[in-house]
Amino acid sequence: MNNKFYITTPIYYVNDVPHIGHAYTTLNADVFARYWKEKLGDENVFFLAGTDEHGQKVAEAAKKNGLEPKTYVDQVAPLFKEAWSALNIKPSFFIRTTDPRHEKVVAELLKKIYENGYIYEGEYEGLYCVGCEKFLTESELKNGFCPLHPNTRPVFQKEKNYFLKLNELSKIIIKKIKNGEYNIIPESRKAETVARLESEIEDISISRAGVSWGIPVPWDKKQTVYVWIEALINYYSATEFLEKKSRFWPADIHLIGKDILWFHSVIWQAILIAADLPLPKNILVHGFFTIDGQKISKSLGNAIAPREFIDKYGTDGARYLLLSAVGFGHDGDIKKEEFDKKYNTDLANGLGNLVARVAKLCEESGFSYPYKKQSKDRHIENAIEKMQPDLALKMIWRHIKNTDQFLSETKPWTKNGQELYEILETSVAEIRLIGYHLKPFMPKTAEEIQKQFNSETIKSNPPLFPRI
Ligand code: MSP
Repeated sequence: MNNKFYITTPIYYVNDVPHIGHAYTTLNADVFARYWKEKLGDENVFFLAGTDEHGQKVAEAAKKNGLEPKTYVDQVAPLFKEAWSALNIKPSFFIRTTDPRHEKVVAELLKKIYENGYIYEGEYEGLYCVGCEKFLTESELKNGFCPLHPNTRPVFQKEKNYFLKLNELSKIIIKKIKNGEYNIIPESRKAETVARLESEIEDISISRAGVSWGIPVPWDKKQTVYVWIEALINYYSATEFLEKKSRFWPADIHLIGKDILWFHSVIWQAILIAADLPLPKNILVHGFFTIDGQKISKSLGNAIAPREFIDKYGTDGARYLLLSAVGFGHDGDIKKEEFDKKYNTDLANGLGNLVARVAKLCEESGFSYPYKKQSKDRHIENAIEKMQPDLALKMIWRHIKNTDQFLSETKPWTKNGQELYEILETSVAEIRLIGYHLKPFMPKTAEEIQKQFNSETIKSNPPLFPRI
């Protein structure tokens, strides 16, 4: 990452409404985007989010709702946009795959790959999981069912399709991964990808004869482009039709959950290599979390909407609780009832109380302290630059705890004169540092802290996080 930064989130299927699983990825992307904006300037950062609107799964959801696919997707896509806005997530652009500009780039790219000789016609037969929008291999099946969608039986499909020469391309890909031409982070996900690449790779079907809700194959209009292929192309198409390509492509980070690793670490690279395009630099993979031990699912009805969190904890409270819910990169379980406790401990009693305590001491003692150069903790910045946002957040909380402890030990309320001045000077400097580093994580709170503490006379304010 040198003079520009381009980060993407997965584009979510509009068969579902936004839940905290989607929010987790998008929030983390927002943290990175905000961090790099601060470093490089707004104009040098591009943050792309969006929705995946074609394919069988979305067409079926539309039908269930008694709507034409286009009418249906036009209703659901804004819900994602609104959810991100409510969480103060600020993508530079929100791409929808039904955007004709995206459709045009997809057609052009596929034509290029076809002309480059990487696509041929063949016949596919196999079991298709609509939930995953992919054909399943024998080894992926569990008692004849998809392990991720145990409630819907995979359907047998046999049809004429176009195929991408993935077997041939996989040999190039494995070399590129081993040479470090692009990174898959964490290391365990890279190892997983390499191990699978070392087994026999079959060519992949990239079109559908039986799905009409999609982008027509440019040289055979009876078929549509397989939804996953065109979805991946969104990362490139946005930079192309917004005329940002020369500036931002290739992406610096594709942030994803582990469920879509193979598509991003291999299929996407295959498409790009076949189209003579540069490869993204990092595929950053986080884990999956369950809620109270159960996987988030529409049918279980346990999906929490981001709104529920915001109403209860405020925007920054929701951001904090989600960002710190599980170790980044690891799977984890979220216990709904523990959020109240965590809010009170870390936000009301932790950050909020520290800020209120120090402000009050400053106000009461008439402490005045000219704003000096912002001091920073380079370790916090390093953690973000090394793509460990959860670690950075933990380090900020260490500053909060240490400052709390410093106050308990030095007991400024029993002191006056020079002694008191020095304690307040140290504490205010720490709070300024905390405010600075909180910016990408909790932008509004950081701004309030900075407004309050970056002035010569510090005054008390109402609590940042009222107790629940
Ligand atoms: N449409 C595809 C992505 C295409 S990208 C070119 C898709 N959509 S999805 O709506 O199913 O979103 C999957 C992503 O949502 C995961 O990769 C992850 O980012 C996020 N998550 C969904 N549920 C989640 C959890 N339970 N835990 C963590 N992340 C979750 O796949």
